[in-house]
Amino acid sequence: MNLTGREIVLGVTGGIAAYKSAALVSRLRHLGANVHVIMTRNATEFVSALTFQTLSANPVVTDTFQAPEYWNVEHVALAKLAEVFVIAPATANIIAKMACGIADDMLSTTVLATKAPVLLAPAMNTGMWTAAATQENIRKLKDRGILTIGPGSGMLACGDSGDGRMSEPEDIVKAVDGILNPRKDLQGLRVLITAGATRERLDPVRFLTNDSSGKMGFALAEAARDRGAEVTVICGNVSVPVPDGVRTIRIESAMDLYEAMMQNCGDQQIIIQAAAVADYRFKEIRKEKMKKQAGETCLTLELVENPDIAKATGERKLSGQILIGFAAETEHLLENAEKKLAKKNLDMIVANDVTREGAGFNVDTNIATLITREGQTEMPLQSKRSLAEAILDKALELYSAED
Ligand code: CTP
Repeated sequence: MNLTGREIVLGVTGGIAAYKSAALVSRLRHLGANVHVIMTRNATEFVSALTFQTLSANPVVTDTFQAPEYWNVEHVALAKLAEVFVIAPATANIIAKMACGIADDMLSTTVLATKAPVLLAPAMNTGMWTAAATQENIRKLKDRGILTIGPGSGMLACGDSGDGRMSEPEDIVKAVDGILNPRKDLQGLRVLITAGATRERLDPVRFLTNDSSGKMGFALAEAARDRGAEVTVICGNVSVPVPDGVRTIRIESAMDLYEAMMQNCGDQQIIIQAAAVADYRFKEIRKEKMKKQAGETCLTLELVENPDIAKATGERKLSGQILIGFAAETEHLLENAEKKLAKKNLDMIVANDVTREGAGFNVDTNIATLITREGQTEMPLQSKRSLAEAILDKALELYSAED
């Protein structure tokens, strides 16, 4: 990453995550960027302006009406100077103001005036983040082309656990780099990704499923899209919104996924199967809701095996095509993953020990080992987006080697 001479305006609003933005400024400066910090009045209650001034080596603007002690230009100067405008942390308040076009302090005024790409890193309590007003505001901003990163989930300062944690500074830096130095190394390639959990129906109100959230598959889809690929996502049940700018095929069961894969795998250069597929489905899908039988204390339901979609795709593998699977394991991780690599005719398998904290289903991070026929690469705890980039790097390397 190189940000030499790039002009970055960083808005810091009043949330506890403001302290993390100090590390963000350091990292951006280290990469050569010129960082100009605008703080809201509330932000200065959490971290002093002097901290940001020292780290950025630039004056920090805290109020529209302050005397231009160091910075002798009018308020739109930073709006014009910015090549990218980051707000981290972005509170529900600044998000709401931006959605409405309110300009009542230096930050909201400047961001309203800028023509630069804007990246928001929301951080707030889960209830505030999931509130209908915040979600509607975020949707509005996204529709206007405003970019967002996170929030992730985890332990929050208020003691709650859930969505609302600001993305890590390292990931925000990567997103800034992606905006300023877009890598289009997947341009011209078609990438098919499966994501989420299958649901195997028993009756109109019941099904068999698993904990997959779709986060890993969507991180891959977003990264591939940003790198210029034409992305198709075959998507089962997910707990996060489908990324913009990708073709989406919705499925419910493993049989639906099988059919969608067979119809679409033929013209794809890279196929990544991150969906968690049920190995079995109910032998019979009841048309009516199953009733409890009097006196029946033990119920036996018959399951039949689902097709192994990755294996079927492997059997149809076209020359030059790269097939990647995931292996979610709770024991004998590498041994089991290597067996799957061979059995499913994959070029790479991403092995996850789902028992490790920070890995596997429904979290924003992952720990994995990338296994190819040539060897193994261990990927330490990192965001799913960052792991997605590494998987795509490897996929491209394999694809180029096939040429
Ligand atoms: N997969 C698939 N079809 C299935 C089961 C799994 O395509 N019926 C794919 C998954 O999308 C994943 C890979 O195969 O990319 C490995 O999935 P996993 O559930 O770990 O392995 P299984 O083959 O189901 O083996 P087991 O359940 O015995 O661990």
